[in-house]
Amino acid sequence: MTDKTATPEQMDGPVLKVTDLTQQVNLEADTLTILQGVSLEINRGESVAIVGRSGSGKTTLLGLLAGLDTPSHGEVELEGRVISRLSEDERAALRARRIGFVFQSFQLLPALTALENVMLPLELAGSERADGKARELLERVGLGDRLRHTPRQLSGGEQQRVAIARAFASEPAILFADEPTGNLDNRTGRSISDLLMDLNHEQGTTLVMVTHDEQLAGRCQRRFSIEAGIVTEPGAEAHTEVVN
Ligand SMILES: Nc1ncnc2c1ncn2[C@@H]1O[C@H](COP(=O)(O)OP(=O)(O)OP(=O)(O)O)[C@@H](O)[C@H]1O
Ligand SMILES: [Mg+2]
Repeated sequence: MTDKTATPEQMDGPVLKVTDLTQQVNLEADTLTILQGVSLEINRGESVAIVGRSGSGKTTLLGLLAGLDTPSHGEVELEGRVISRLSEDERAALRARRIGFVFQSFQLLPALTALENVMLPLELAGSERADGKARELLERVGLGDRLRHTPRQLSGGEQQRVAIARAFASEPAILFADEPTGNLDNRTGRSISDLLMDLNHEQGTTLVMVTHDEQLAGRCQRRFSIEAGIVTEPGAEAHTEVVN
């Protein structure tokens, strides 16, 4: 297995520190600002929900937090390392060792079976138990009888569960999930929420999730709202007022 131990300086301070993050894209006529001056800190082991309307910038924010993309301005510091100062290879290595990501569009490899999709990150990490571990994870998401199906042969909700099992496989320190229950019925969604919360409690995994699912958001310790690229933490404002 890969070495998951963080150095002492990585253990101190927030696991994620975001300073004045701005994301803009140049369109033909003008510049579109997708995120505007986002600053926040997330501590190790916290569970965080990010909620907001369609098009408010949630997926863009999550991608920047996970180092999948680089911002126009501002910084993302992950376990004490400024992501934008790392090379492409260093970012990829950091993601492989420390980060799990469940994409809104799943992004499973179409030629591989469910089992092979989940085994892949384990094999890349040199795990000797890739097959057994991947089977266990797929059973936990209720897909023990779909191991040999390719993504095309799976329903949307089933693909979502494979994507979740794959993100769990490398036991990430931080799990980012974009609408992890978005395609699931209430009951399946509830069992996936349970699984996410178990991971948070049992392994101390920091959870950062975009969700429209009130039930899931309600189980998170913190909630950020995003509107037109501006992020607020409504619960924390009340707290600040008390302190001041
Ligand atoms: N590369 C891009 N070029 C132009 N516009 C973009 C680009 N990426 C995102 N946008 C725009 O930025 C806005 C935010 O997109 P984003 O995908 O972050 O929204 P979201 O909050 O995740 O929405 P949803 O809930 O529908 O998934 C959208 O209006 C989108 O059209
Ligand atoms: Mg989105």
